Amino acid sequence: MIDDRLLAILSNGQFHSGQELGVLLGVSRSAIWKQMKELELLGVDVYSVRGRGYRIPGGLDLLCEKEIVTACSDHVTSRLSTISVERVIDSTNMMAMREIHQQGVVSGRLYLAEYQTAGKGRRGRAWVSPFAKNLYFSLVWRFTQGAAALEGLSLVVGLALVKALKNLGVKQVRVKWPNDLLVNSRKLAGILLEMHGDASGECQVVIGVGVNVAMPERAQEAIDQPWTDLQKLCGDSVSRNRLMSEVLNHLVPELDRFSEYGFSVFREEWEQVHAYQNETVCLLMGSKEVVGECQGVNEQGALIVKHSGGVEHFHAGEISVRQHHAT
Ligand code: BTN
Repeated sequence: MIDDRLLAILSNGQFHSGQELGVLLGVSRSAIWKQMKELELLGVDVYSVRGRGYRIPGGLDLLCEKEIVTACSDHVTSRLSTISVERVIDSTNMMAMREIHQQGVVSGRLYLAEYQTAGKGRRGRAWVSPFAKNLYFSLVWRFTQGAAALEGLSLVVGLALVKALKNLGVKQVRVKWPNDLLVNSRKLAGILLEMHGDASGECQVVIGVGVNVAMPERAQEAIDQPWTDLQKLCGDSVSRNRLMSEVLNHLVPELDRFSEYGFSVFREEWEQVHAYQNETVCLLMGSKEVVGECQGVNEQGALIVKHSGGVEHFHAGEISVRQHHAT
């Protein structure tokens, strides 16, 4: 296991000798070497130069609960119950779900990770989660109106992310129904909602979000769709702690508004940032394909498409939407 103190020391991007690190941590130089190898296995670039020691070029921007909380509004902190920052975990969604099963429900639990060994995407895909580069989090939220009322929730989460990013200066973000964030048709962030509880009454939703912040080159090969990250968009490094606080400052009030009024109050705003509003889209549902004009979303968040058979409302699930280019 990698010592947190080692990560903190290396985070400044400077050289540190094995001896210096061994003394600071009270372990042998070979124990330090082993931890460096572990870091490399997580995909972290560790330079080692004989006579100078180890260095992580560019340093590490580590997640820090205190920094996140400090930049959150009082309202947000009052609505959060716990924040867990994990270095390495299978998946923050899985961790959240496990704790719901073991400890019962506490709304407002936030789980963050530097690295996910089994990050989950939608439709069985993996979510590539390199160490300390992107944002991976899951927020547990309790709803009481039953699963049917939650149809528009993923759209509301997407909208809150768009607003948070806009506040950080990233203005060109669009939402793709039901829950991808795109910039110029490239994926910047994804949302995975998982539910637990009573489908007709109280249920807990694990709201899992991954935002690409600074995807390292080495991780890129594993991604099977066009993508982008904040570093490319802003040309600058974006603090993940700041991003997390900004997301919470937008997401938490929107979750409360959604609980109270449902999706209909978000509909217009959502359509304003909809990537394919009034465009021709192709819906893929297993082997079935529907091509038509996308007219936006209804009061519940279902996608409205006008096609040769009439106007139809599509509900999220195993549907994938693509922009349709006439051949
Ligand atoms: C998608 O396929 O677009 C959804 C991606 C969701 C990824 C996030 S990362 C944090 C949370 N934990 C997971 O295992 N998945 C979600």
